[in-house]
Amino acid sequence: MEDLSRPGSRSDSPSSRSRRGGRPDPADVRQLADSPVSLRRVARLFAPHRSTLTVVVALIVLSSTVSLAQPFLVRHVIDEALPRQDVRLLLVLVGAMLAVAIATAAIGVVQTWLSTSVGQQVMHRLRSDLFAHLQRQSLDFFTRTRGGEVQSRLVNDIGSMQGVVTQTATSIAANVTVVAGTAVAMVALSWRLALISLVVLPPAVLLTRQVARMRHRITGERQRRLADLHVQIEEGLSVSGVLLSKTLGASPRLTARFDETSSDLVGLEIRSRLAGRWRMATMNVVFAAVPAAIYLAAGLPATSGGMTIGTLVAFIALQGNLFRPLMGLLNVGVDLTASMALFSRIFEYADLPVDLVEASDPTRLERTSARGEVRFDGVGFGYDPDRPVLAGIDLVVSAGSTLALVGETGSGKSTLASLVPRLRDVTTGSVTIDGVDVRDLASADLAELVGVVTQETYLMHASVRDNLRHARPDATDAEIEDACRRARIHELVASLPDGYDTLVGSRGHRFSGGEQQRLAIARTLLRDPAVLVLDEATSALDNETERAILETFASVSATRTTITIAHRLSTVRDADQIAVLHDGRVVELGTHEELLLRGGRYADLVRGGLERERSAA
Ligand SMILES: Nc1ncnc2c1ncn2[C@@H]1O[C@H](COP(=O)(O)OP(=O)(O)O)[C@@H](O)[C@H]1O
Ligand SMILES: [Mg+2]
Repeated sequence: MEDLSRPGSRSDSPSSRSRRGGRPDPADVRQLADSPVSLRRVARLFAPHRSTLTVVVALIVLSSTVSLAQPFLVRHVIDEALPRQDVRLLLVLVGAMLAVAIATAAIGVVQTWLSTSVGQQVMHRLRSDLFAHLQRQSLDFFTRTRGGEVQSRLVNDIGSMQGVVTQTATSIAANVTVVAGTAVAMVALSWRLALISLVVLPPAVLLTRQVARMRHRITGERQRRLADLHVQIEEGLSVSGVLLSKTLGASPRLTARFDETSSDLVGLEIRSRLAGRWRMATMNVVFAAVPAAIYLAAGLPATSGGMTIGTLVAFIALQGNLFRPLMGLLNVGVDLTASMALFSRIFEYADLPVDLVEASDPTRLERTSARGEVRFDGVGFGYDPDRPVLAGIDLVVSAGSTLALVGETGSGKSTLASLVPRLRDVTTGSVTIDGVDVRDLASADLAELVGVVTQETYLMHASVRDNLRHARPDATDAEIEDACRRARIHELVASLPDGYDTLVGSRGHRFSGGEQQRLAIARTLLRDPAVLVLDEATSALDNETERAILETFASVSATRTTITIAHRLSTVRDADQIAVLHDGRVVELGTHEELLLRGGRYADLVRGGLERERSAA
């Protein structure tokens, strides 16, 4: 019943947050406070694309400048061409207006193409490097990290980087040039009107921003309540959720809570709609009011300064261009925080030290020359340095022999076995294969030497054949079938409509736990490792199949050393040595008969039924 109480998983991926709104996301601010990012480091990522980026900036400046010609052309049309009915001049001016529009549009396309490809290339580099770096992390890193977190950083954070970074950078560049250029042009057209705009524009911009912030706040609240509603639906209407609420008699409480959340949403939805309307309304009023104020100023003798109608129209057009870039610049802080937080999350992973360091000058030990003797010398290990899980373990598993590890759940069997394929490193002492410390072996050699089958098998979403070939890419079809025959799974696979091409997993054939285990065993047999580590590898199999498979394991290679963890007496009995673990120490060591005679812990385990221990595991 344990996992029924697990809360519904909430999706709060960092990139799903919205950036449009007046204030930086608190989670982003926290992220940056926890692990600050230096601008120089971000710049280094873009350094290889320096020349492209220079072109991008040049294009932005060019297109903003070119588009500034528009109002001056309008002024000419109104003040010169129209009153004089000069058709030739009119044609030239109109043609120029069209040319300016086409030129800025074309520049925009090129600029987007360049900046997107730089963004994508930087993203691709980061993504690949991070993937490789994370692959080198130890198993414990992945056990420690919240499920989905690693994937989210790799896919979402780096994915949104393209949008956030290139957009932030280009919009800052564009907004700055537009605001600066427009301001210069406005002064050039009429310094009086420019002064007036200086008085009218800022309050208008600030008012709009205030309303936008209010709307953002309400929308955020609505989003959160909506997420609550989703979680409650998930918890209350899923099979396990319903099972839990029925068995706990929690249905009335859940219904009441749902009712409350749902009614909260009514008010929030209304406020959020209204806030949206308010925003539109303010914008409309502002967009009407600012030109009105300028017309007024232009009409009053005190402020007009004898300007032409053309100047006035051109000026009105110019100030209209100013509004959005100004709003954009006010949000620069928010955009920058969001971008830097993304980098911070990505760098945090990129900076993780690799806790399993590959030997710089690895000793070679090839499968063909390896005998497969495994020694544990004074091995100690702790997940947490203050709390040792294993201590003082000395064991010699001579080449070709079998060591069985038994002991209660939590006694350290899996941890000890995981030191051989170097899923983690010893804290003290050493683990050696044929006298070579596993830490001195090249990881490729070690993977070749040691095969691991655990209770939890992992099969990829691919065909049976590809799953097996993943273990040995050069395996022939005949070898694959042979491995499956030995793992007692060939008959079943062959009987499926698609045979070895059957897809494994949720969208393909759902193999049972025992069948998956046999596939995993076939996969390992295909590799034919010198040292085999079986951690409850046959736990999901019936006695008979287990026996058959263990016989295959024993018979295929005389030089194979096996370290097996099992709860079944039948599996343990024939081992050359049995080590009984208790609290991370070997408390008894010997053969089945010897240990039974001793009448110690092993004898107790056997009497209590090694077999039944499994249900407690
Ligand atoms: N990834 C881990 N992080 C921290 N502690 C762990 C981890 N895995 C196992 N342990 C702890 O180490 C001890 C030994 O676990 P394990 O080797 O799995 O025992 P066994 O396989 O004999 O049941 C237990 O106390 C367990 O809680
Ligand atoms: Mg275990």
